[in-house]
Amino acid sequence: MDVAVMGFGTVGTGVVELLEKNHKNIVEKSGAESIELKYILDIRDFPDSPYADKLIKDFNIILNDENVKIVVETMGGLKPAFDFVAACLKAGKSVVTSNKELVAVKGYELMQLACENNASFLFEASVGGGIPIIRPLGNCLAANEIEDIAGILNGTTNFILDKMIKESVSFESALKTAQELGYAEKDPAADVEGLDACRKICILAALGFGHHVYPESVSAEGITDITLKDVEYAASIDGVIKLIARAKRLENGRIAAYVSPSVVKNSMPLSKVDGVFNAICVKGNAVGETMFYGRGAGKLPTASAVVADVIDCARHIDSKKLMHWQSSEDSYVEDMAQLPVSMLIRGSCEDEAAVRQSIRELFGDVCFAQPSSAEKGSVAFVTPTLIQSRLDEDLASIAGFKIESRIRVLEF
Ligand code: HSE
Repeated sequence: MDVAVMGFGTVGTGVVELLEKNHKNIVEKSGAESIELKYILDIRDFPDSPYADKLIKDFNIILNDENVKIVVETMGGLKPAFDFVAACLKAGKSVVTSNKELVAVKGYELMQLACENNASFLFEASVGGGIPIIRPLGNCLAANEIEDIAGILNGTTNFILDKMIKESVSFESALKTAQELGYAEKDPAADVEGLDACRKICILAALGFGHHVYPESVSAEGITDITLKDVEYAASIDGVIKLIARAKRLENGRIAAYVSPSVVKNSMPLSKVDGVFNAICVKGNAVGETMFYGRGAGKLPTASAVVADVIDCARHIDSKKLMHWQSSEDSYVEDMAQLPVSMLIRGSCEDEAAVRQSIRELFGDVCFAQPSSAEKGSVAFVTPTLIQSRLDEDLASIAGFKIESRIRVLEF
């Protein structure tokens, strides 16, 4: 059975190398007589690549080759990935993708196409790199009503925050290292501004709660405004700052979904997820709490998930292997202003005693944060859990207090 890989970047290269490295094992597990890499599609030239003889630039060669039954898409982005993937599925070819943007935005449409054309459409690598999470959520936990999902879904930002926390390294320097190690997206804005994690939580929410969740309906905040001072204040209340992606089932039938830097208390397992590692906590109404942990980015960890999907496609070549969810309405994701939240608030003032008194009068006996390096006139505290719109009003009413930073405190 012939396979084509579209996109010879970090992940595509890993897929090609893994197909060769573990070839015998892969063929045995697939149940196919053979699994051969026939083409690698990329617009760039790779004259020195050991795979130069397989490199092509014309997508139609793959589309029109009847022996290519499985196509791997590792190009990233929507254009031309969507058109290529849709064309392959219409031609009855099974598709494996690591492209979270494609799945988050077009997943429902592509699953329909796969179903109509008796092909498989698999995307285990789109969330959590090498961590098995798509199948566990879609299949192994299928008997549960999923209640809550919270995860660290972006390796680059976790790597950066970890360096800021442990080595007091600047944001820019840590980002540069992450890029050199091949973790960051082509455009790192997608990582540091929370969009990559947003696409991933959309996919998990769709699998967990059963309806497509579009990235534009999910509030995504990144880590570009997080400073070493924030890190220090979080430490003073026994926590660390992580970029958390969250999706929760609400009693009104909608879901809450967001990506936000959050203070994670050191007592929570997510606080221990360091470097490029990702972790996803899932609560189900039968299984209780589960946690999935592993390398969320990088060449071979991601290729591990892609190639496993190739094997699964090969096993189901005469049937189809699909993940399922339904379409959704605009109002499916609840407005953040209506959701309860607790925040670590930091600000400055002239009269600390008066501001602390106002805070106590508004919120009761709150926990004030005071790292040893706290400057005069600086007040920081953790709010009780309140509906965000009400919290915003209360905070705005504190006379003489200029808020400099507000970071969500994770409650899971
Ligand atoms: N840029 C992504 C990350 C790659 O850092 O997690 C894996 O999706």
